Amino acid sequence: MEMRLAVFASGEGSNLAAILAAIESGALQATVAVVLSDRPDCPALQRAEAHGIPSYGVSPADFPNKAAFETALVAHARRWQANFAVLAGYLRICGPTLRGAFVGQMINLHPALLPAFPGLDAVGQALAAGVRVSGCTVHLVDEGVDTGPIIAQQAVPVLQSDDVDRLRARIHEVEHRLLPTVLQWFAEDRVHINGRHVFVEGLP
Ligand code: GRF
Repeated sequence: MEMRLAVFASGEGSNLAAILAAIESGALQATVAVVLSDRPDCPALQRAEAHGIPSYGVSPADFPNKAAFETALVAHARRWQANFAVLAGYLRICGPTLRGAFVGQMINLHPALLPAFPGLDAVGQALAAGVRVSGCTVHLVDEGVDTGPIIAQQAVPVLQSDDVDRLRARIHEVEHRLLPTVLQWFAEDRVHINGRHVFVEGLP
């Protein structure tokens, strides 16, 4: 089945750009069906528009509650036949309405080696903790905050000269390779979930 992605973002959208580049180069067999954001003015939406991709900024403040807000997001995703959700810098906790629309088909990208440093400001948390290694994690989304089964991780060194911007840039570099790679595993139907454990066919 063709993989039709709904990409959720709240900020820059550099990971959206990495997904689009992987699709354009043929490394990722998928289509970005729609880009959705909780921040109508975010650069990620502008990137999507520049690529002619349907994109919607949906403000939570315009809805009486989270379920109504997420119902609107899901309606946009369905309109464009999205069958897989990618949280790429989406800075909100997914509620049951959104999760329920993409059961087993929703992944998140987090800028730390989970289970270390979940939640906001993961890069700052890693620096404050004084770790020598950090990185990024791609995981399935469950009801917790950054707690779902881990699919893939990539480490980077933390240097003594790092500040948040430098470490974030190093993590971004590996994110931009790892996220499209994981998506291609799904496109090839190689990802199998068994409780907390994710088995990827073809990996050692
Ligand atoms: C990434 O570092 C991701 O791990 C985190 O938010 C950041 C999004 O960056 N969840 P961008 O918007 O893709 O540039």
